[in-house]
Amino acid sequence: MNKWEKNDLFIAETLIAEDVELKNILEFNRQNNLPDWEVSSPQGKFLYLLAKIRNAKRILELGTFVGYSTIWLAKALPGDGTVISLEYEQAYANIARKNIEHAGFSDKVTILQGAAVDSLNALIKAKEEPFDMIFIDADKPLYPTYLDLSLQLSKPGTVIYGDNVVRDGELYNADTSDQKVRGVREFVENLNKSRTLESTALQTVGIKGYDGFTISVVI
Ligand code: DHB
Ligand code: MG
Repeated sequence: MNKWEKNDLFIAETLIAEDVELKNILEFNRQNNLPDWEVSSPQGKFLYLLAKIRNAKRILELGTFVGYSTIWLAKALPGDGTVISLEYEQAYANIARKNIEHAGFSDKVTILQGAAVDSLNALIKAKEEPFDMIFIDADKPLYPTYLDLSLQLSKPGTVIYGDNVVRDGELYNADTSDQKVRGVREFVENLNKSRTLESTALQTVGIKGYDGFTISVVI
């Protein structure tokens, strides 16, 4: 184990109360060889703290996967708070619904199964109330489209978080042919072009390797 992995484990052991439901989700994922896309526990707690600091009542998540970050976000909500989470893969949505039920958050979480672009357009068309916080974590090549649509579900003060934008250090690489890197690069560039956003990005190391995230606020 390298130092940043050791430190992530120390941070998790020292600052993050063990949660059996969350631990079981990770265990299930490993046993079933699912991708390791879920956030680390320090990052999950970070999202939870961000939602608390923002006093978020309404959170939108793009990319439920198995519901691990969804549960962290739901934990931060007040009694009448809600998470709407979008997931393309039926199998992941089914696992997530089960995980969220076990964790006791079924009343706070709605998973919309389908392409996030379609669900976002449906929410916009239905004049869904704007969200306080939006966690973008779905298909990386589509991040620029997710941003355009997310802005239509935002209001001044909405916090927009973009996961996995540094991608093993490739974000800077204008010559890359990796569609995921190209997607997140255009996303980051569009954050800067948007006159309604103030943004930054931070790089991270830990048990998930070398990555990073953007954070923006709608002004
Ligand atoms: C990938 C996606 C994620 O959401 C993540 O946290 C890590 C990696 C990926 O598609 O490579
Ligand atoms: Mg991610």
